Amino acid sequence: MIIVLFLAILTLLALYANPFIRKHNTKIYIAATLLSILAFIFRAQPIATPFIQGFLGLSFFYIVMITGAIDKKHLIRTKFMTLRREYSIIGFIVITPHALNYTIQGLDGTRSLEWFGVISFLLMIPLFVTSFIKIRKKMSSKTWYRIQSAAYIIYLLLFIHLILNFTQPINLVLYLFLFILYFVLKTIKFVKTGKLR
Ligand code: HEM
Repeated sequence: MIIVLFLAILTLLALYANPFIRKHNTKIYIAATLLSILAFIFRAQPIATPFIQGFLGLSFFYIVMITGAIDKKHLIRTKFMTLRREYSIIGFIVITPHALNYTIQGLDGTRSLEWFGVISFLLMIPLFVTSFIKIRKKMSSKTWYRIQSAAYIIYLLLFIHLILNFTQPINLVLYLFLFILYFVLKTIKFVKTGKLR
């Protein structure tokens, strides 16, 4: 349920700290990387839970995801849209300790490997790399959009991953709510505009 708190904080930051985040994005990426390394090193400590259990990463990704489903006329969409790149980069950085932790456990036989998580994480890598402006500028917009469309497969895999791996019933209710909301909003948008993007 900590995801609800994270989503609220990320929404407030998008509303009130938007220019600050964009201005200092590189510093924020470095800070997120350092915190993720620390979380991985101290992964047995409760303080690392938001990173190691994937809650923080999922919160960032959910904002990125829902942005594409919100109607263009809403202010919140504009605010989220201008931070979409930053949130997806930070999301990838902070989900990495989770992915590493459970991949290691899957490979050393501590638990079975969670393939839906693994594949969704692997698919995120090209999206993460091409999120950086310098790399994006080197490719045509057609190629870039084609790579980004893998996001829909990632969302589906993530949904299955969460449904199979929730640790508390209330988390399952939350995941169902969040993903059904996304699906409903996306369908309404598609019916209105005829476009997926
Ligand atoms: C290599 C990639 C991944 C692996 C091996 C993996 C593995 C796992 C495993 C084993 C669990 C169950 C943990 C437990 O029982 O305590 C889990 C839970 C979770 N995963 Fe992943 N995962 C991966 C990628 C992802 C990604 C990309 C996201 C989100 C962006 C994510 C979000 C979550 C969340 C939020 C939970 C917690 C569910 C809950 O406690 O309600 N995972 N993952």
